Amino acid sequence: MKIILVAGARPNFMKIAPVIGAIQQHNCSRKSGGVKIDYLLMHTGQHYDDAMSKTFFDDLNLPEPDIYLGVGSGSHAEQTGKVMMAFEQVCLQHSPNLVVVVGDVNSTLACAVTAAKLRIPVAHIEAGLRSYDRSMPEEINRILTDQVSDYLFTTCEDANDNLRKEGVSADKIHFVGNVMIDTLLKFRDCALERIQVRMQGRYALVTLHRPSNVDYQDVLQDIFEALTEVSQKLPVIFAVHPRTQKQIEDFGVGKSFLVSDWDFIHKKSLSRTVYLLPPLPYLEFLHLLMHAECVLTDSGGIQEETTILNVPCLTLRENTERPITVTEGTNFVVGNNPEKIVASVERILESGIPPKKPAPRFWDGEAAERIIEVLSRISV
Ligand code: UD1
Repeated sequence: MKIILVAGARPNFMKIAPVIGAIQQHNCSRKSGGVKIDYLLMHTGQHYDDAMSKTFFDDLNLPEPDIYLGVGSGSHAEQTGKVMMAFEQVCLQHSPNLVVVVGDVNSTLACAVTAAKLRIPVAHIEAGLRSYDRSMPEEINRILTDQVSDYLFTTCEDANDNLRKEGVSADKIHFVGNVMIDTLLKFRDCALERIQVRMQGRYALVTLHRPSNVDYQDVLQDIFEALTEVSQKLPVIFAVHPRTQKQIEDFGVGKSFLVSDWDFIHKKSLSRTVYLLPPLPYLEFLHLLMHAECVLTDSGGIQEETTILNVPCLTLRENTERPITVTEGTNFVVGNNPEKIVASVERILESGIPPKKPAPRFWDGEAAERIIEVLSRISV
């Protein structure tokens, strides 16, 4: 069986890495007669800076991509269209039996639709998540990708319910668990060992990149005021996404924040201020995540990671497509009102470390193996 694995943007790399590991393990251990899985790793180039791409390949021991589309940035239509045009040629050249896409970025949708139109079966890893907020580009990507997919691999029961409500037949849905957590569990010790110096003192960790938070000057300004107030209580480390960096420069906000870097923050004792860092490699970020007092974010994956690490997480959005991180984890969806953000941090600091809950079902490091077990039974 020949499959193409698609990755395009930063959060895709952590999701595709365990799938590659599980394929390699399957091929080594398969009994005579079992199907061998040949894979090609394709990088669309949606994210292209070293800090958003190459460092993840290095940290996660990912092989060099076999195919690189190099599409780069652009409007949604432009980026999606460019990936579709390039990927159609790839499919015609390689005739895969299956295309595997992960997550909800523009590359995910573009490759799923392209393959489906060529009648190539599509597997979607992390299917069925819904925020029920169609102002998020990712929600459109999720809904459409799931509609054209043949194998829908889910991380939780609510995703199964969402898919059933949308009329997806039960035999297409496979509840396998969370591949991002496979990677987290595999690299957790490595993140502790590689970074010899443990972070000194308490701090809050911040990431922001959603258009709803960073694309409007008044909203970003309000969030920055909240961060300034939080920093009076404990130091704030803010790993800045390139999209957010551009907005900071264009709007001229965050001028009182301290531009810093990894070397500084993990060697010096931190002051009560906001430190702006460039996007961090996976292991460094994981290290910061593990030792944070609390995390403020609008990322989807970080809501899941903090749930497993038992670190309180404030999601600066009005909704989440990952409600299990609230009901079974450490996540609080608080929106982006500055008073509410500050009050929520105060509440977390007063209540201390949350009692440890059991991990959500199948968030156990073996999701990718379950996926490959299903895929290896496909007859081609
Ligand atoms: C994308 C995904 C989002 C995901 C996020 C993770 C979509 C619709 N959005 O958002 O779901 O949570 O990735 O990071 O697919 N840029 C660089 N260097 C890069 C990549 C981007 O400077 O390597 C800058 C460019 O100015 C670009 C902007 O960031 O225009 C946004 O990049 P884009 O891939 O369009 O969306 P993200 O905001 O990164």
